[in-house]
Amino acid sequence: MTSCRITLDRDFIVGDVPHRLFGSFVEHMGRCVYTGIYEPGHPTANESGFRTDVLDLVHEMGPTVVRYPGGNFVSGYNWEDGVGPVDQRPRRLDGAWHTLETNEFGLHEFMEWSKLANVEVMQAINLGTRGVDAARELVEYANHPGGTYLSDLRRKNGADDPFDIRLWCLGNELDGPWQIGHKTPEEYGRLAKEAAKAMRYVDPTIELVAVGSSNSGMPTFGEWEHTVLTHVYEEVDFISLHAYYQEHDGDAASFLASALDMDHFIESVISTADAVRARGRHNKHINLSFDEWNVWYQRGRNTEDQEHRVKESGWREHPRLIEDEYTMTDAVVVGTFLNSLLRHGDRVHIANQAQLVNVIAPIRTEENGPAWRQATFWPFARMAAVARGKILRTAVTSDRIPTAHYGDADVIDVSATWDEENGRVALFLANRSLDDAADVQVALHGLRGDRVVRAEVLEAPDGADRHVSNTAKAERVSLTHLAGVSVSEAGVALSLPALSWAVIEVTVSSV
Ligand code: AHR
Repeated sequence: MTSCRITLDRDFIVGDVPHRLFGSFVEHMGRCVYTGIYEPGHPTANESGFRTDVLDLVHEMGPTVVRYPGGNFVSGYNWEDGVGPVDQRPRRLDGAWHTLETNEFGLHEFMEWSKLANVEVMQAINLGTRGVDAARELVEYANHPGGTYLSDLRRKNGADDPFDIRLWCLGNELDGPWQIGHKTPEEYGRLAKEAAKAMRYVDPTIELVAVGSSNSGMPTFGEWEHTVLTHVYEEVDFISLHAYYQEHDGDAASFLASALDMDHFIESVISTADAVRARGRHNKHINLSFDEWNVWYQRGRNTEDQEHRVKESGWREHPRLIEDEYTMTDAVVVGTFLNSLLRHGDRVHIANQAQLVNVIAPIRTEENGPAWRQATFWPFARMAAVARGKILRTAVTSDRIPTAHYGDADVIDVSATWDEENGRVALFLANRSLDDAADVQVALHGLRGDRVVRAEVLEAPDGADRHVSNTAKAERVSLTHLAGVSVSEAGVALSLPALSWAVIEVTVSSV
């Protein structure tokens, strides 16, 4: 048994829980759109071709904002291809994913789907092959009420009311040599500034995200953010971060501690943005949009060489791409990523798990078949539903686990929120130990604990090991009741099973 002491104080507040922290991502990649959210011939499809079995799971999971249409895809995409009569839309080669894009699904379809899914749209523009003109035209098409060529074209195409898209990404991963239209930070910074200016001339109310580094291991990391923000500081509201993690060579301890790297990445970008702020004598702060994050087995496991296989089999419509099957271990790691994002919620205002369906996703489907929840569905779904009000600072004294990559890590990873209006404190806890349960004591300062209203745990079911996963046939990894959680006026006590993730909610009153 290991142990951990956590102290929460009603006066030690990080900030409000950002509504957009529980975002997701739909890219025209693999089977995320086609046979994922959209499959006209599916038995559950509605009259627009949207799978309602998937929509039901999206409602249950609760993303608040969804980024669209890419990803690498957007850097070669003409938004005009996806509007107008479907039978007249061009079939195109998508070089990013070596895929035949039919354009049967485009902007209007996504807007309609987003309404049904009850999510805000975060629209990415193409700053790879295109530029200022296409960017401002898309804003006019989407957001201008009417009386101009492009806004009237939208109305002719069936949308009388403007789409009113508030949140826009100025391209995708343009620091990456793999990106169509890869740029130096100087080139991108200049282009992003001009695109932003022209987009805001059309609609001054939009919010803009500048492209940051594709991961913290990029050779240009740091320099990219500094140069880009020096150009574009006054024009944008956010800088993006992307990061994917996986277990390497059976080193579970390091993998389970990956959130330490995420913490470090976030804090480095905050420092860089604030350095540009100081240097440029700017008043406002640039906040962070962690608009792609997840576990992704880029090497090994079931995704091995997928990209090569796709290239060998020629240009196909919606091939299977990176359909990772997530394990119990992956679910605990996803829980720690959500904790890291929430702990930094004063500056990370947007975060998008990549992606929503099939492509490294919490929801999986089969064509003409079922839809199901992966193990990683649960930490996201519960945090999106339960994290409300204020983020509380967590003071943690925990036993530690040595890791090869990140030094010593706390056995227990935690984040916490306080919903003053409803008198509730929520704790999101991960136990990184593969072998030992943890005795967790939570002290409440300035708050009086009353009763436990939720105690749920995600752990491997009896007889299964840490590699257990969910499939179309059986969802073996699912939340169960966590017994033995007690609450007193002074705090909460519980025992957290080895390799588990848990959510505890207690009612509290202020003292
Ligand atoms: O989410 C999958 C891909 O990962 C995205 O298209 C790209 O932006 C990132 O490299």
